[in-house]
Amino acid sequence: MISIRGVKKSFGAQVVLAGVDLEISPGETIALLGPSGGGKSTLIRCVNGLTNFDVGEIQVGPSTLKPTRDPRESRAAAREARRQVGMVFQDFQLFPHMTALENVAEAPVTVLGLTRAEAVERARELLARVGLEARGGHYPRELSGGQKQRVAIARALAMEPKALLCDEITSALDPELKGEVLSVIEKLKAEGMTLILVTHEIGFARRAADRVAVLADGAILELGPAAEVIERPQQERTKKFLERVLG
Ligand SMILES: Nc1ncnc2c1ncn2[C@@H]1O[C@H](COP(=O)(O)OP(=O)(O)O)[C@@H](O)[C@H]1O
Ligand SMILES: [Mg+2]
Repeated sequence: MISIRGVKKSFGAQVVLAGVDLEISPGETIALLGPSGGGKSTLIRCVNGLTNFDVGEIQVGPSTLKPTRDPRESRAAAREARRQVGMVFQDFQLFPHMTALENVAEAPVTVLGLTRAEAVERARELLARVGLEARGGHYPRELSGGQKQRVAIARALAMEPKALLCDEITSALDPELKGEVLSVIEKLKAEGMTLILVTHEIGFARRAADRVAVLADGAILELGPAAEVIERPQQERTKKFLERVLG
């Protein structure tokens, strides 16, 4: 489903991705763990074309991203990648002037060419799927963090992505609101969605992820079944990282 091959990326003199390889099967859930600044966000932003990279290739379903000097080609490939994978951010990034329903219905109209009525109908179904059927008319400021994040998930799903990339989507939430977002993610997993989850919720990663990848200093330090990596890490660096986040 997603194939990341030899991806390198620098910002100026700073190497942020030092050659990353990762293959993700359809329906697989990968938790991406690692210290802050390790390159997790940069990597998943590369996967959906939000950031370009210097070397390597990323394949998402039928679309391929690779470095190119032609800005038009680069924009077209990024647009295509974004059709294949949805992204959800720590800070929701909802449109503040639109209701929950309008947030979810917007891209299907402007990007997929659905009629407004079709898009609204679908948006209602998607809000119901994330447990927010009663909140369609609410503006983001009228919603809790957990509700906002569930709207953001519904909005990503409205584009019918083949995979969903989640970048620390519970990090800005109060502990009692994390659960409602994580249970939506577990439901998507059960329905067969391919997921890459950047998270510091180690318990959740252990439970929900098929495999865990630890990214530090721009390289994958460790990769394997969730239970193995979390309970029996091989690398000293992984052990230290897990001790720190588990407290
Ligand atoms: N747009 C940018 N310009 C310059 N440096 C960046 C940019 N985005 C990220 N970085 C740097 O790249 C490194 C990795 O960042 P990031 O991918 O956000 O790591 P993580 O998500 O693992 O915390 C950090 O040192 C960060 O400062
Ligand atoms: Mg990050």
